[in-house]
Amino acid sequence: MTAPLLKIEDLRTYFYSKSKQAFIRSVDGVSLEVGKGETLGIVGESGSGKSITAMSVMGLVSSGPGVITGKIGFKSETVQKNLLQDLEDYVTLTRTDGRIMAVQKDQDGWREVSERRMAKIRGKEISMIFQNPKQSMNPFETVGSQIAEAVRLHTDHKEEKAAKEKAIEWLDRVKIDSPRLRYDNYPYGLSGGMCQRAMIAMALSCEPQLLIADEPTTGLDATIQSKIADLLAELKSELGITTVLISHDISIISRLSDTVAVMYGGTVVETGPVKDILSRTAERKHPYTSALLTSIPSAENVKEKGHLQAIEGDVLDTINIPAGCRFYGRCSQVTDKVRERCEQQEPELREISSGHKARCWLYFD
Ligand SMILES: Nc1ncnc2c1ncn2[C@@H]1O[C@H](COP(=O)(O)OP(=O)(O)O)[C@@H](O)[C@H]1O
Ligand code: SF4
Ligand SMILES: [Mg+2]
Repeated sequence: MTAPLLKIEDLRTYFYSKSKQAFIRSVDGVSLEVGKGETLGIVGESGSGKSITAMSVMGLVSSGPGVITGKIGFKSETVQKNLLQDLEDYVTLTRTDGRIMAVQKDQDGWREVSERRMAKIRGKEISMIFQNPKQSMNPFETVGSQIAEAVRLHTDHKEEKAAKEKAIEWLDRVKIDSPRLRYDNYPYGLSGGMCQRAMIAMALSCEPQLLIADEPTTGLDATIQSKIADLLAELKSELGITTVLISHDISIISRLSDTVAVMYGGTVVETGPVKDILSRTAERKHPYTSALLTSIPSAENVKEKGHLQAIEGDVLDTINIPAGCRFYGRCSQVTDKVRERCEQQEPELREISSGHKARCWLYFD
């Protein structure tokens, strides 16, 4: 891997459930990194903490207590910083047996420092695209003027006419037909696929160092999904922009990513080069990754089993985290040798071969 542009270490983002009087540990010790110019795919079932990890990086988690601890190292040419630096001063954690039991956070103090820092980073250094492009755009402004505004705000093209030309250039680049005419369309006048293209144009027009794409194809028709994936692949080879691509769709992650992080229950259970983890022939895989791969509805799977296979059991309840491995209740690969440890002690994310890390007792003897 090249030098990481983004390196997250032991990030924790919790919410407090008043009705249950307990924490929802949405992100519970996430560590991952993405090399400059590379694409990191984050994959995992719904509810595994993918979006909240991304929102934490952007400083966009609004419900409390939110991000409470960890490091978000960001090293571009202009910014070299832990985005959470000094923010721990606003948080007091009470632990029992190493586990966080209580959080006291000065939300206002945290927000003030975080907002001041992130205002210079959001858009300019890190851009994000979301699943619902129409909801992310201002419905009362034309698509083109929203892109031109982003260009003026974040790049050297400050003059109105130059920003407009730049915006049209980007609309063209994401393959929107008649970009000059489309410039004056309102978001509701565009189809879902077109709108996602416009969102991608807006995110890239700020010339960010890092693009975070959260489920960019989810919710679109299947044919449009593959067209957006084609566009992302093209932009990746043309621009070489560092990207974090989040999706529950393994095929899009396999196609576009260099490295992958597989998330389960608020943690990364396996990470490394895509070829070592997501290819069906890779030998050493985390049991959760294996289960995810067999749940893909490929023609091969359906032929073999006669039906589509879901991973048995429910996604982890991140309020009542078990003492042992988070996947224990659903894991089909537990052996007698490791059973006790699986049940009682959470494995760490450790290197099992060069650049390939897994969180599973089967790999540590
Ligand atoms: N504002 C919130 N308040 C309480 N729980 C939340 C909030 N946002 C997300 N969660 C919970 O955090 C967990 C992780 O959510 P998310 O990161 O959106 O999952 P993913 O993107 O992997 O599907 C889920 O269980 C979700 O219900
Ligand atoms: S640690 Fe144990 S329960 Fe967890 S994934 Fe590995 S074998 Fe399965
Ligand atoms: Mg999500």
